[in-house]
Amino acid sequence: MQIYLDYSATTPPRPEAIAVMQAVLTQYWGNPSSLHEWGGRAATVLEQARMQVASLINAPAESIIFTSGGTEADNLAIMGIARQYSQPQHIIISQVEHPAITEPVKLLEQWGWQVTRLPVDTQGRVNPLELKAALRSNTVLVSIIYGQSEVGTLQPIESLCRIAHMHGALFHTDAVQVAGRLPIDVQQLPIDLLSLSSHKIYGPQGTGALYVRPGIEIVPLLLGGGQESRRRSGTESVPIIAGFGVAAELAAQEMTLETPRLIQLRDRLFDLLSNTPYLIPTGDQTSRLPHHVSFCLAYTDENNITGKTIVRQLNLAGIAISSGSACQSGKLSPSPILSAMGYTPQQALGAIRLTLGRDTTTADIDWTAIVLKQVLHRLIPKLTCASCS
Ligand SMILES: Cc1ncc(COP(=O)(O)O)c(C=O)c1O
Repeated sequence: MQIYLDYSATTPPRPEAIAVMQAVLTQYWGNPSSLHEWGGRAATVLEQARMQVASLINAPAESIIFTSGGTEADNLAIMGIARQYSQPQHIIISQVEHPAITEPVKLLEQWGWQVTRLPVDTQGRVNPLELKAALRSNTVLVSIIYGQSEVGTLQPIESLCRIAHMHGALFHTDAVQVAGRLPIDVQQLPIDLLSLSSHKIYGPQGTGALYVRPGIEIVPLLLGGGQESRRRSGTESVPIIAGFGVAAELAAQEMTLETPRLIQLRDRLFDLLSNTPYLIPTGDQTSRLPHHVSFCLAYTDENNITGKTIVRQLNLAGIAISSGSACQSGKLSPSPILSAMGYTPQQALGAIRLTLGRDTTTADIDWTAIVLKQVLHRLIPKLTCASCS
């Protein structure tokens, strides 16, 4: 039995996306900037995908800039706003951002920018009052992740956005894990910039988008032929963008049925593992990504059982999950996300994440719970066998 429970890392491209990519590669392979018939056909496909992606977040098509993925969308949001200023200003992020945000922000810091990294509580949530207190007269951008990829916590994005606006700052959110799983409406939620990634919603890898509210200027990261309305140069990869478009449209159509199904499976897995000794759920248990289950291991011994140990053991049993710890130059380091939430380095090293998706069944969840308990029993001899059944 093979069970894939790593849908936050990537999702299998859905057949409809593969079919459209194949059609575009064979029939609509023109350069969308070319003025002839071939170019025109490719441009039509590109603009249709732009509308499909835009409607996933109820945005106008012209507000969507196609990028190479979520990482580039995040970089473009941070750098595209920051580079409008000739003098360093102040930017606010949280302590639980993805590296696609933290790394460009580090660079800004080296350029003399002031950076505030808002703390989070033990659930990984930013307190809107802390944002209010951190805003300064020169704060130009606030960027807070919508759904945290390691621990599943959803931020109170609407309050955070409104507070940023009250103080005249723009608001960006990385919605890579939320889009396609929860409704996002940028007409209701006055977000200025929002990042999306195709391969998290059953589209192909290598494309994504940055939504930029009409009227907001950004400085491009890539200079060249002026594609994407002069905001991202480089010939668009029409086949994969078309796959992204179809995936976005189908995610929007299927959300009303698929999201409650995922929530039910997620809660079932949490329930089945709830009394497992040493396994502590991480992240907010209510305000949470629908498909996301995460734990850390509160067990210390000389054998140093880490999340990676558990991932390897489950992999041997045919179950794919992920650990929350980063491996740098062969040395395990605790996740900065869990550290910011107050977990000890040892607990943070024991982080695991199981993320569910379209193909996940109740039988997968039940079997995974049994195997995970058996693995922990083997690794931790003190665990009573009652918890293995
Ligand atoms: C929250 C978040 N932001 C950004 C990214 C990067 O997206 P991409 O892989 O499309 O570059 C990821 C990918 O894991 C993510 O989970």
